[in-house]
Amino acid sequence: MSLAPQELENSASKYAAEAIRLDSQGSRGMAIQSYQRAIEALVKLVQIYPDYKLNKVYMERANAYQNRIKALQMSHGLEEEERPAPSSIDNSKQEPSNGHGAKPASSGTAKSNNVETLKADFDDLVMKEKPNVSWNEVIGLEDAKRAIRESIVYPMKRADLFPLGWPRGILLYGPPGCGKTLLAAAAAAEIDGYFINVDAASMMSKWLGEAEKNISKLFKMARNLNESEGVPVLLFIDEIDSLLGTRNSEVGGEVRVKNQFLTEMDGINGKSKESQLYVIGATNKPWSLEAGFLRRFQKRIYVTLPDNASRTNLFSQYTRPLNVEGSLKIEELAKIAEGYSASDIKDICQSVQLRVVNELFESGKAMEAGTNPRPVSTPDFREILKIRKPSVSVDMIRAYMRWSDQFKAL
Ligand SMILES: Nc1ncnc2c1ncn2[C@@H]1O[C@H](COP(=O)(O)OP(=O)(O)OP(=O)(O)O)[C@@H](O)[C@H]1O
Ligand SMILES: [Mg+2]
Repeated sequence: MSLAPQELENSASKYAAEAIRLDSQGSRGMAIQSYQRAIEALVKLVQIYPDYKLNKVYMERANAYQNRIKALQMSHGLEEEERPAPSSIDNSKQEPSNGHGAKPASSGTAKSNNVETLKADFDDLVMKEKPNVSWNEVIGLEDAKRAIRESIVYPMKRADLFPLGWPRGILLYGPPGCGKTLLAAAAAAEIDGYFINVDAASMMSKWLGEAEKNISKLFKMARNLNESEGVPVLLFIDEIDSLLGTRNSEVGGEVRVKNQFLTEMDGINGKSKESQLYVIGATNKPWSLEAGFLRRFQKRIYVTLPDNASRTNLFSQYTRPLNVEGSLKIEELAKIAEGYSASDIKDICQSVQLRVVNELFESGKAMEAGTNPRPVSTPDFREILKIRKPSVSVDMIRAYMRWSDQFKAL
């Protein structure tokens, strides 16, 4: 879930829009201040979320604003004391005139630069490599695994057995950390083709231009890959609810994005049997998707919190690489961990290991040759479980169950 970067992004975008407006009105001093604020918000964004996919785009924008500030200062010969504090951005690689997005909208060259960077940015957001995840690593979720095998893996191997066609759209919904992304990755590893992984939040970014064009470009790319290379393509769209989010403040923007998406999905579903293009969407907020949207995903699968048996398997999977005391009571841990997500359980195993490593360092013996932490034991797990609450609340689970009762489609 990456809502927080979106909030920061919104504020950066607000300052940038203000700066560009002031700039075009000739209010240089105030424009500089707003550019500066936009830069600060972008830099903060990158610092807080160092792994966010759009960081390259953000830094390019920040550089462009920095260059625009310089150009404004030079053209106007501002007094030293009027200049804003220098920012921390390295813009040594940028041409001073390449201020895409930073120039007043009337500039024709700025526009064509925009188109070029848009293309490049978009390619960066899409990962085409195949993940290295096997079905065995995905614990539990048998319904979900079966649905994916039925609608993707088998039709791909023997299309002739499906005279009525097969579903092309699968929606995975459920609380965070239960394996939606992991499942999509396992499905991709199974198919002999391309896996395109993109998050809808990035598609909606104001910094990438019009969202509905991004959507159509994404599907076009997927179709081209499928048709030109004759191999299956699995398009995984994470956080698919953000396609309908309230972030696109422009009037009518959301509707256009939604309609574009629906059209693209119809294109896929109506395709001939030879077409091997699949869409897996994932969301934490299924209730924000409306009926038209849901209908395009013929399979809607609840990716649930692990049950007792799955928790046992998760504990044994994630303690396997650890040095464990012989008497570790995995069944007991699984019982105590009711309500915890799969990723909570993974984190708990990690915390226990950190604890024994920490002990070794505190004892001052860590750097002596051949020393190892003591084996982890059941009480270590019990203590960590006591101080670490489940990341999903009971209320949230109720909400998923209610929605599931109404809309699931296995
Ligand atoms: N069913 C599972 N079996 C094994 N490991 C799991 C499972 N579910 C989650 N994990 C572990 O937790 C990590 C996070 O899970 P994942 O990213 O798939 O969750 P998600 O449902 O996509 O969450 P979000 O809604 O936050 O995107 C995985 O990389 C994996 O290590
Ligand atoms: Mg995920």
